[in-house]
Amino acid sequence: MSNPVCPIIGIDHLEFFVGSAKQSAFFYSKCFGFKNTAYRGLETGERKTTSYVLEQGEIRFVLSSAMSANHPIAQSVAKHGDTIAVVAMQVPDAAAAYQYAVEQGAVGAIPPTSQADAHGTYRYAAVHTFGDVLVKFVDRRDYSGNFAPGFVPRSDTAHSGVGLTRIDHVVGNVERGAMDRWTQFFVKTMGFEMRMHFDDQAISTEYSALMSKVLQNGGKTIVNINEPADGLRKSQIDEYLEAHYGPGIQHIGLATNDIVQTVLTLKQAGVEFLPIPKTYYENLESWVHEIDVPIEKLAELGILIDRDQDGYLLQLFTKPLGDRPTLFFEIIERHGSRGFGAGNFKSLFVALEREQALRGNL
Ligand code: FE2
Repeated sequence: MSNPVCPIIGIDHLEFFVGSAKQSAFFYSKCFGFKNTAYRGLETGERKTTSYVLEQGEIRFVLSSAMSANHPIAQSVAKHGDTIAVVAMQVPDAAAAYQYAVEQGAVGAIPPTSQADAHGTYRYAAVHTFGDVLVKFVDRRDYSGNFAPGFVPRSDTAHSGVGLTRIDHVVGNVERGAMDRWTQFFVKTMGFEMRMHFDDQAISTEYSALMSKVLQNGGKTIVNINEPADGLRKSQIDEYLEAHYGPGIQHIGLATNDIVQTVLTLKQAGVEFLPIPKTYYENLESWVHEIDVPIEKLAELGILIDRDQDGYLLQLFTKPLGDRPTLFFEIIERHGSRGFGAGNFKSLFVALEREQALRGNL
């Protein structure tokens, strides 16, 4: 069942609130191959904020920073560090999506708003979700500009991409006991469906545990929500909640059609990934020979493999992207499998805990 009033077409963009939009844009362009396609700031007459729009494949990021200490973006950065603050969903009618969500219990953040320029009318609205994360409804039916009114286009010829194609999934961390409430929130207010869930038995190591639920909307907009579970020591989700000062976006899965080439390029650019112990590759079962990448190549790059009844997937995870152990990226190549690498959770979390221990947080 999708939202009967306003189906979600897909993720329009993710907006990061950061300390310096210029430097973050440089990082994501240089290291991850994103092109800067639009800009808004002092030179365009905007005095309060600076925003860079970055694109690669169907992925669009907006990096925004504030020019003064009392601006909400500056306050977000002071509290959370750099974070994904807005998940913007493209919908056919932003006002209708907003009205439906609010009727179903969502708290409004930005009422339906229209902005016009020579390219037409851009409409949006937003509601509060977990932590300080907003879901924004963006409606481009009457807008043909490259991003939104107020932005000037930029043609960046320096960055040609690293093969990233689309946002596969977005994952949020919430407080212990809050996962069910927030998954129900997305079902009720935006027409998401529960697709699967992983309990603390599936996702635990000797030390720490978490639980996770997967939501989908229209088959391709996927949101996962995690909460910490009891373990002998601090869960990686607890570490996130402490470092982020509350719930927020933990990671996003970015799809590629050629994970080996993408990861080689990212590593050459200096992107750091979670190291995977060599023993992981010694213990892989015989089925992995069915995949079309040699096991030695996967071992060399630290790429994980998982399989379910529909096919297989290849994935790996960056180290945290900023100073705090909060946001990271997953790179994923799917061959039929619609899962999230549940078979890798244990080895992955052992690797995560090694990093957590180095930070003095385990
Ligand atoms: Fe993921």
